[in-house]
Amino acid sequence: MSTDSDTIDLESAYTAVSDTYKGKGDIHAACRAARKASPIFVGDFIRQFGVPTNAGMQQGTRPTFALFRHQDVMAVLRDASSYTSGFIAEGLGAFFDGLIILAMDGEQHRQVRALLQPAFMPETVNKWRDQIDAVIRKDFLEPLAGNKGADLMKFGLEFPIREMYALMGFPTDNPDAYRRYAGWALAMVGGNQVDPAKADEARRNAGIAVRLLYEAILEVVAQRRVDGSQGDDLIGRLLRAEHEGRRLDDHEVTTFVRSLLPAAGETTTRTFSSVMALLLTTPGLQERVRADRALVPKLIDEAVRFEPVATFKVRETAREVQFHGVTIPKGAFVQCMVASANRDEEVFERPDEFDIDRKPKPSFGFGFGPHMCIGQFVAKMELNCAVNAILDLFPGLRLDPAMPAPVIEGAQLRGAAHLHVLWD
Ligand code: HEM
Repeated sequence: MSTDSDTIDLESAYTAVSDTYKGKGDIHAACRAARKASPIFVGDFIRQFGVPTNAGMQQGTRPTFALFRHQDVMAVLRDASSYTSGFIAEGLGAFFDGLIILAMDGEQHRQVRALLQPAFMPETVNKWRDQIDAVIRKDFLEPLAGNKGADLMKFGLEFPIREMYALMGFPTDNPDAYRRYAGWALAMVGGNQVDPAKADEARRNAGIAVRLLYEAILEVVAQRRVDGSQGDDLIGRLLRAEHEGRRLDDHEVTTFVRSLLPAAGETTTRTFSSVMALLLTTPGLQERVRADRALVPKLIDEAVRFEPVATFKVRETAREVQFHGVTIPKGAFVQCMVASANRDEEVFERPDEFDIDRKPKPSFGFGFGPHMCIGQFVAKMELNCAVNAILDLFPGLRLDPAMPAPVIEGAQLRGAAHLHVLWD
């Protein structure tokens, strides 16, 4: 993969990230067995899957514990003063000049979150619905309709970054630029490589991508400031926002915008793949959803419970804590097994069944507590528009019997690589 190229191959960049975070083993089976054996695992539970954790290179050098129950995962994720995220800056965050919200704690996190939050609330996102829907239909699905068949992941790979590109307020005269941004954003995520044979190249590519993305965004930000910092889009809002009693400078706006692209792109792509795979492989489901579109949000919520993209979240203890009679010292890593908590039989009946009719209860596919996904309403809106448009434009949608059926896989990041379908 060449990160310098203007025409970066999105598919191979995405596959490289999938390979890095795929690991080995069946995460659901491992969590089920672990949950049965004990609510707490003393040691590095994630190690067995061979994936890079957020703890990056520090893994193995500190006491590590894993939690499996719904109530325990919730307790950790909601208490950001006892369980901190700052260590993430030493792994992936190194690429973001420390300005990655995911890796902020305490007052700094609260302030930055307050700054960004208004741009992502439902009342703002709802105003974007028509624009999101138009991009999906006009730019992607209507031109495809006459083909009567496709791998929907080509669309799935591109539309989330294309949407963010529009919502952030990038210029509309260069609509293909988002493809380059998407490739760079993926190269950044791929920088956290565990395979020593690939680590150097992956880190080098990530470094180049970080710089190229920075330069491209900075140019737009500087121009927007010159033009008067108007607009309801994200860049316009950030240019006008106050932080610690002063305006954000171009460097800060650029760095925030850059850190949002990887957070917004491939998470939505993977979720789209799981939503569609479950819709197409669950008997009778497509007919029901096609006839009653009010079921689309339930389909999305249940897919995020059943197959969360990120199967675990790691936190560091800021003080000594107790779980199930085990003392976890200050400075330890706590692996919150989201894939397990989302299928905890004490909370969800028949947890291993995909059932869009189940009673809504919190699950952790978008996280929980102070760091809960700030973009969840955008993501759900995009997914909702995508599913509806596919059902509207592709009558008789079905899996292509000549091609392999979609498989949702991955130990750390889950999703299906392909969605080969036909329609009438
Ligand atoms: C279906 C798609 C998505 C999924 C599954 C997802 C998942 C998550 C999760 C699990 C977290 C919590 C991380 C933690 O606790 O350490 C998170 C945080 C975050 N997400 Fe998303 N996300 C998605 C889409 C988006 C989109 C579209 C955006 C931007 C528009 C976005 C921006 C963010 C940001 C900025 C954070 C950090 C929030 C903070 O630390 O306060 N995400 N996301």
